[in-house]
Amino acid sequence: MKQHKCIRWAFDLASWNPTLAQLAQAVAVIQPEERKRLMKFVFLDDFLSSLVGRLLMRKFVSAHSDIDYKDVRFARDVRGKPYWLQADHKYRNQLSFNVSHQGKFVVLAGISSESRQEATATTPTTTAIPKVGVGVDVMKIEYSGGRNLAEFFRIMQRKFSDNEWRYIRHPQHNEYDQLKAFMRHWCLKEAYVKELGVGITVDLQKISFTVDTTHELDVAASPLTGTTLRVNDLPQNDWHFEEHLLQPKYCAAIAFKNFKPELEKFELLKIEQLLVVTEKATDAGIVDYCREALRKRRKT
Ligand code: COA
Ligand code: MG
Repeated sequence: MKQHKCIRWAFDLASWNPTLAQLAQAVAVIQPEERKRLMKFVFLDDFLSSLVGRLLMRKFVSAHSDIDYKDVRFARDVRGKPYWLQADHKYRNQLSFNVSHQGKFVVLAGISSESRQEATATTPTTTAIPKVGVGVDVMKIEYSGGRNLAEFFRIMQRKFSDNEWRYIRHPQHNEYDQLKAFMRHWCLKEAYVKELGVGITVDLQKISFTVDTTHELDVAASPLTGTTLRVNDLPQNDWHFEEHLLQPKYCAAIAFKNFKPELEKFELLKIEQLLVVTEKATDAGIVDYCREALRKRRKT
């Protein structure tokens, strides 16, 4: 039997104006190829979002294994989805996680599955246990696309099903409500495709969500869990969805495959919970790298 534990962590970048020493601690633990990738960002905001995402993954894996924070290694699959690179297969299929960042929020959703040895010599466990998985997405509820909202929705027409548009463009919804409804559906689709790891290669119109219409999605009521999904018009009963409002302008969705977690909100982490002291943070190369990063522009 397996016991699953679910983690939902959020980090608010507005809570962190990095000092050189803090940034060096963060940068020292991530892998060289990630350092190289991060340095390509034009804006410091994007650099920090992605960096914090890496730290959240690291914290999640080290908290649910016996690997030290700085020794955790990740790789990416062909579509860029990060996974934990294990030295041995002791924890095979035991941890599932996904990260998302937008605006000032970085979030991680993770499931750790602990095997319970209950089989005896006479009752071997031969039943295949469905593999659990998780995908997450966060979005700021704002529209800065230039065009008017109706024109934007027209461009997005083919990414949503008729059922979804009926809800988004509900006549009783004002413009902000329509935008919020749109972002909620966007998040749900992203969370789902991110669990699958397929990116935007799927036909999004065939992925049709029906959100909970009996409750308002607000911070206090989060998460809402009444969401259902149909893919190619077939109900997807092995999936469960959570919709969260982290703050009035930030919605997030989590897609759980083969797993229905206990209801919980996101836990807001502080930067101190993501940094560890390592000697490497004082390496001249790391310090120079961080100085260069801190010279990047901020988004206005
Ligand atoms: N599957 C799942 N997770 C992935 C991934 C993949 N193929 N590739 C990267 N990730 C992880 C990484 O941790 C990544 O962080 P990093 O960029 O700092 O390395 C993180 O997910 C990015 O997620 P998020 O912040 O939510 O980014 P996104 O929403 O811009 O993109 C993609 C998510 C890349 C997985 C993909 O779904 C995509 O390209 N989306 C484009 C947008 C779109 O058309 N969406 C349709 C919704 S209606
Ligand atoms: Mg996203």
